[in-house]
Amino acid sequence: MPQIHLRAEAGDYAPAVLLPGDPNRATWIAGKFDGGLSAARQVNDHRGLLGFTGTYKGVPISVQTSGMGAPSMSIVAEELLRLGAERLIRVGTCGGIGRGIKTGEIIIASSATPVDGATRTYLHGDAYAPTADFGLVRSLVDEAARHGQAPHVGQVATVDVFYNPDTDYFSKWRSRGVLAFEMETSVLYYLAARAHAAGAKAAAATILTVSDILSEEATSEESYLPLDELNRSIERTIEIALEAGIAAS
Ligand code: HPA
Repeated sequence: MPQIHLRAEAGDYAPAVLLPGDPNRATWIAGKFDGGLSAARQVNDHRGLLGFTGTYKGVPISVQTSGMGAPSMSIVAEELLRLGAERLIRVGTCGGIGRGIKTGEIIIASSATPVDGATRTYLHGDAYAPTADFGLVRSLVDEAARHGQAPHVGQVATVDVFYNPDTDYFSKWRSRGVLAFEMETSVLYYLAARAHAAGAKAAAATILTVSDILSEEATSEESYLPLDELNRSIERTIEIALEAGIAAS
């Protein structure tokens, strides 16, 4: 049955779905499918949430725009899981806060602290640690190594406010071991875990490019990677995510 935002049928999405926030990146990813963009099938365009299905190295794969922020991701992940998606891999960017983390590096989120409101709405105040699927994390780490990359693997925090004015915001989460801020992963991990617990074959993981460094000295605007460098780094994470998506098939 078509969903309210993803106007697609069960079977329109492959078991593995890459989830960029940005529709332009969804189109970019679909261009890497076998035969390029023209061979990919567009399965959604409602609200600009572009989704495509095709194959990569002969294996079925989809890409679906998540939009920005946990509320948008929660809608997209809920509907993808209802449509039968099994492996959800977010491909995105993050603001690095961990010691020694540099722009252009890769972070694979083994867990995502839910600082966002959407995950906390689902949890009704219960303590909970949104956690990635270990098999998908392992595939992402293995594929990153095959691409000559040594990703940071650890905890991110999912936040609602990109331009947060609080002066202790970065140091507080840095001192708790958080590597980076981003805006979608905690609710993705929660919803995949909930679906898995209900008997579905659902798994999720997130791979991120560090687009900016957040510190008391510099804001995201000051530290944001130049676009060409950012795109080169994102390209690497897309290739790694595509390989991990088909690896577990
Ligand atoms: N904060 C939150 N989310 C982000 C950032 C950031 O600095 N950069 C990319 N995603």
